[in-house]
Amino acid sequence: MRHPPFPLPTICTLDVKLKPIAKKALLYNHYGSSHMLLQPSRQAVVVNSHQPCSRRPEVVLDMTFGGGGHSKAILNSAPDVTVLALDRDPTAIHLAEDLAKEYPGRVKPILGRFSELLSLLSHMRIPERSVDAVLLDAGCSSMQMDQAQRGFALSKDGPLDMRMDGDRYPDMPHAADVVNTLDQQALASILSAYGEERRAWKIASAVVEARRSSPITTTRQLAAVVAGAFPPAAVYARKDRLNRPSHLATKTFQALRIFVNDELNELHAGLRAAQTALRPGGRLVVITFHSLEDRLVKRFLQGEDMSNLDEFHFEQKQRKEKYAERPKQRSEHWAPIKRKVVTPEKQEMLENPRGRSAKLRAVLRL
Ligand SMILES: C[S@@+](CC[C@H](N)C(=O)[O-])C[C@H]1O[C@@H](n2cnc3c(N)ncnc32)[C@H](O)[C@@H]1O
Repeated sequence: MRHPPFPLPTICTLDVKLKPIAKKALLYNHYGSSHMLLQPSRQAVVVNSHQPCSRRPEVVLDMTFGGGGHSKAILNSAPDVTVLALDRDPTAIHLAEDLAKEYPGRVKPILGRFSELLSLLSHMRIPERSVDAVLLDAGCSSMQMDQAQRGFALSKDGPLDMRMDGDRYPDMPHAADVVNTLDQQALASILSAYGEERRAWKIASAVVEARRSSPITTTRQLAAVVAGAFPPAAVYARKDRLNRPSHLATKTFQALRIFVNDELNELHAGLRAAQTALRPGGRLVVITFHSLEDRLVKRFLQGEDMSNLDEFHFEQKQRKEKYAERPKQRSEHWAPIKRKVVTPEKQEMLENPRGRSAKLRAVLRL
C-alpha cells in the first residue's frame, strides 16, 4: 500500500478530511505518521492508524479516564498501544483496573490529579518527552453526573458534594461547605467568575437568606433557592444550544463544581504537564465543555503567558478591548493539526445532548 508523504487524518464519524498539518509540524513527520483524533463528544474515534515510520509501540496518556470510553477505543485502534490511564476519581481508577485485566500489560491506571501527574510519571520511571499522544477530556464524567450521591447533577436529588476526588482528601470542602460558609461577596464572585452568571449577586443574596433558617445540604434545595432568585418570567427564558429550556441553576452548579475542584488551575497544570510529557512530534487532543475551559486551552496553545489566571474573570467585552491591539501569537511549543476547532454536528448533539457544547483542539508538540 502506498502512503502519502504525510497522512491526512480523518475524523471517521464526521467524515471530515483534515487539512495538511502546519508546515512546521511536518518537520516532525519522521517521528511517526499515525494520527489519533477524537470526536468532540463522548464517543472516541481513533483514526488513520497506519504507522509506516513508527519506531516503537505508541504510549498514549489518557489524562481523564472517566468511564474509559476513549481509552478503550484507543486500545482497540492498534494491538500494541499502551494507555496510561489517569483520573483523580477512585471510582474511575477501579474501572481502569478492570480494563487492565481485559487488556493485559497494556493499561496502567494512575490515581491522581493533573497537578500531580509529572511526579506520578517520574515514580513510574516514565521519562519526560517520551509520551506519543495525550488526551485531555475536561470536566466531569457521565458516571459522576449520573450518581445522585456525588452531588453534581441538578436533575437528581443528592447531598451537595461535587468532589471529583471522592473521599481521598478528608479536608477538601464539599459544595455544601461553600454555600453555607462563604459570605455574599465571595459567593457572588465565584458565581460570576466560574459560572459567568449575570445574577450572581442576587443568587448569593438568596443563598445567604435561605441558610439563615437551615443549612442548604442537597442539590434540590440549592436548585430551588437559586430559582427563587429569578423573576417568574425567567423560567423559560434560558435556553441551551439545542434551544431547550435550561435550568436557572445550571450556571451556579457549574461555578460551584469548578471552585470545589479548582478546575481551571488544574486544567492549566494539566496542559503544562502534557507539554512536558509529550515527545517532539507527539499529539495533544483537548476536549472542553464550556467557554472558560476552552478560552484557557486556546490561549495556552497559542503560547500566551498564563501565569495570571485571574484574567479569566474578565467579561468577554473587557477581554476583547484588552487584547484588541495585540498581534496574534504563535506558540513555539505547538502547531495545530487542524486549524479550526472541531465541534459536534447537529445530529451528534441530538444523539448525545451532554456533548452539545464540546470543542476539540488537536495540536502537535514541536
Ligand atoms: C469528561 S470525563 C472523561 C470521560 C472519558 N473520556 C470517557 O471516555 O469516559 C472527565 C474525567 O476527568 C477526571 N478529571 C477531571 N479533572 C481532573 C484532574 N484535575 N485530574 C485528574 N482527573 C481529572 C474526572 O474525574 C472525570 O472522570
